[in-house]
Amino acid sequence: IGKMIHYQETVESTQKIAHQLANEGVQEGTLVVAEEQISGKGRLMRSWHSPKFSGIWMSLILRPKIPVHEAPQLTLLAAVAVAQAIEDTTDLKPQIKWPNDILVNRKKVVGILTEMQAESDRIHSVIIGIGMNINQQLEDFPEELQEKASSLFIESGELISRSTVIQRALLRLEHLYDLYLEEGFKPIKDLWESYAISLGQVIRASTVNDTIVGKALGITDAGVLLLEDEKGTVHSIYSADIEIQ
Ligand code: BTN
Repeated sequence: IGKMIHYQETVESTQKIAHQLANEGVQEGTLVVAEEQISGKGRLMRSWHSPKFSGIWMSLILRPKIPVHEAPQLTLLAAVAVAQAIEDTTDLKPQIKWPNDILVNRKKVVGILTEMQAESDRIHSVIIGIGMNINQQLEDFPEELQEKASSLFIESGELISRSTVIQRALLRLEHLYDLYLEEGFKPIKDLWESYAISLGQVIRASTVNDTIVGKALGITDAGVLLLEDEKGTVHSIYSADIEIQ
């Protein structure tokens, strides 16, 4: 992973470039990195604030031979790898909020966006986009984000080398991906649960047309979140915005 790196100072979105490269057939493990994104993309059609030189904006191309419905597992894998890379670099204690926000002291420092290209049930490529807030100061964030978002610098008080974090994240990603290809999702799921912030707690999951409040029971082997509502009905959540109550 990361043997081929496509670097550009300014891009619209590293996701877009990664999609193009994937279509051109570049090798698995190719990474796209930029210093700045003009229109960084977040989950659920949101934008992602990606100012110059202060964060890590990167997209990784994978081509796993797995069925389409198992692709969310890779998002959880990426979240674990990034949490480990944060622990390798700082004394901070990262936690993961389902599916893949990484929080430090309850504030979001990393977002992950996974997109897939597939034909029928065959995956052509999975693009894992990772946005890490590294050296921003609080006033660098737009006002509406200042309560919820943070950076490793704000939380640790230390300026952090972005290239070191990238190296460590790639090492961790490679290790976990090999483990996943050899042993399947189980070891990844166990690791993910050890970082999970909301399991066992009552949370509110908002999807496009519904809101479900319930206790987070855990994740399935496909990476889907299970929520038990007050009537005892268990709901499978594939994609939602999660608020911890
Ligand atoms: C989220 O909404 O939490 C996911 C944010 C993902 C942001 C990253 S930054 C690198 C890659 N390129 C993008 O445009 N988005 C992802």
